[in-house]
Amino acid sequence: MKSVLVVSYSQSGQLADIVAALSRPLAEAGMNVHHEALRPEPAFPFPWPFFAFLDAFPESVRLEPPPNQPLALAPEAEFDLVILAWTVWYLSPAQPLTAFLQSAEGKRLLAGRPVVSVVACRNMWLCAFDALRDLVAEAGGRLIDHVAFTDPSPALATFITTPRWMFTGRRDRFLGLPPAGVDARQSAGAARFGAALADALALDEEKRGQSLLGGLRAVKVVPHLILSERAGRRAFRVWSGLVRRCGRAGERRRIPALMLFALYLIVMILTVVPLNLLLQRLAAPLLARRLAALVSHYEQPSGAGDARMTAHE
Ligand SMILES: Cc1cc2nc3c(=O)[nH]c(=O)nc-3n(C[C@H](O)[C@H](O)[C@H](O)COP(=O)(O)O)c2cc1C
Repeated sequence: MKSVLVVSYSQSGQLADIVAALSRPLAEAGMNVHHEALRPEPAFPFPWPFFAFLDAFPESVRLEPPPNQPLALAPEAEFDLVILAWTVWYLSPAQPLTAFLQSAEGKRLLAGRPVVSVVACRNMWLCAFDALRDLVAEAGGRLIDHVAFTDPSPALATFITTPRWMFTGRRDRFLGLPPAGVDARQSAGAARFGAALADALALDEEKRGQSLLGGLRAVKVVPHLILSERAGRRAFRVWSGLVRRCGRAGERRRIPALMLFALYLIVMILTVVPLNLLLQRLAAPLLARRLAALVSHYEQPSGAGDARMTAHE
């Protein structure tokens, strides 16, 4: 019997639903599935008070999270496959997942193991995935697959619906805008990845170190978001350094710097983001090659193809 470790952190339950759909076929195939829901110490609030939401910014970007509470695993537990289910905070992996990957326990569990990454976020996971890849490699894991679930609504609508969800906990229809987050059909569709992993584990295919989830529409990279994310990431590095210089997480003396950052974010979303999209449209022929190379980088290792969809639908 194969053992699979699923490590996740979900505040609203959105990612938890995806994890449940994905884990079911593994359990039904007789695999020993152990689920660890990470518990940061102190806990992050949900819904988020405005300042707490901003205050999570510097340490998310700089990969300096508070530790998690110890896992509920036996100290010598070992697994054939590790599934990391994570969300994105400020273009970086959410702090609890970063803390897990940096911890001695996380490193022990990942060392030499095949790792599958499953992200669910608004729509910007590319830079966070670069960071996650590095963290997995530093922990000694072998990242063999990556699956991304994103909010299917238009990006402009999600600029309103996602913050509303984070600050109030409500993700229902609002002012004619679509509900926030990944929809129920997408979450249920995560079962196809669990089924494909169960088939592969039964045949020892996880030992080959190659992707097991190709042809299942694992990711969809939106080309025009790549350059916006990269520009945002560069700015976030500078801003997070500035805020860190003003104080530690939770300290009141960094509120003014965080307020300035919030203002910058709002101005950027209202001006720089649309301008950037317009410039990219005008320069499309010049950027085509570079973007195609970046799309192919971010589609690795599982790809955007759908050749095996019918087998697993
Ligand atoms: C502090 C914070 C920052 C976030 N930043 C991003 C981001 O940069 N990109 C993105 O696509 N989603 C972002 N999100 C949305 C999350 O990735 C995720 O979709 C949402 O928090 C729901 O996840 P849950 O399963 O933990 O409830 C952010 C959420 C929070 C709380």
